[in-house]
Amino acid sequence: MDRVPATAKSTTDAARHQETAARKNPTPIDLNIQCRNRHFASAVIERRRWIGGDPYASAFFNCLSAIFPKGEALFIDVLKKYRDRTPPKLQGEIRSFIQQEATHSREHHFFNQHLASCDLDISRLEESISNVVSYIRAQPEIIHLVATMCIEHITAILAAEVIANPRHFEHADEEQRKLWLWHSSEEVEHKGVAYDTWLHMTRDWNPLKRWYVRSAFMAKISLGFTINRTRGVIDLLRQDGITGFRAWIGLAHYALVGPAPLRRTIWPWLQFFKPGFHPWDIDDRHLIQLAESEYEAAIMDQPPVTVAALVPKDAPVEEYVKKVA
Ligand SMILES: [Fe+2]
Ligand SMILES: [Fe+2]
Repeated sequence: MDRVPATAKSTTDAARHQETAARKNPTPIDLNIQCRNRHFASAVIERRRWIGGDPYASAFFNCLSAIFPKGEALFIDVLKKYRDRTPPKLQGEIRSFIQQEATHSREHHFFNQHLASCDLDISRLEESISNVVSYIRAQPEIIHLVATMCIEHITAILAAEVIANPRHFEHADEEQRKLWLWHSSEEVEHKGVAYDTWLHMTRDWNPLKRWYVRSAFMAKISLGFTINRTRGVIDLLRQDGITGFRAWIGLAHYALVGPAPLRRTIWPWLQFFKPGFHPWDIDDRHLIQLAESEYEAAIMDQPPVTVAALVPKDAPVEEYVKKVA
């Protein structure tokens, strides 16, 4: 009979123990994921460099916004497909996740329209994300879930950084700051939904296989994400008159030295590779409250507006809203 080498057995046992520990300490039991359904459609972008005149910060967030509608539509489709195969509590969280992502897509659709009004062409960025989404959709179903779970982790750590580091938006246009804080707070709030769906759907997998698959995909997806977003930011900077060496040095300084969204998210990104990792290992719900306190006054001032009144009939985001079951 084959004998399992002692080192391999101890590694497998350790991984199993940690994965089991993660299931015992998952998403907070009292977490209430809620769709706030905020509206920012009328928040016109009055200047191309809407973050305090900073071309690099503005291009960075514009690049992210350009990919949200198509990316979030994928996440909605994937989790909706799995919803009926999950336990009731998770089904409810997936429902709230879908509602939140649908409203994010709707609002970033409007944000992106405002970018077009500033003579920024995001068509190449949209083409890039379309190609990635098409590639993922062509893979086996479980890969859709792995990809969603990995990208949701990247989104969540960026969202936590956006809220925790006031440097990002301290000089930004006020309405845009509220939009990004709102979106970020809901990303933090639903950060465990795709991961919990993954844990449930792979509950019969060998823990080592589960760790390997999610880690390998995270490495692959992170590399692609970094390359594609860098290309996107460089494209937007070129449209803003910044090219060549100046663009690359400016972007590197912004990402690693200034507000440093890349440097400051490397450690939380690395946490994903730990055996037994769970997004709620770090309970950062205080960031949700912090973000809400930032725009609470504005919310109180908003008149009640229906989704139907705000979403034009020909807007593609209407399809996302319809998907909210
Ligand atoms: Fe979102
Ligand atoms: Fe999300």
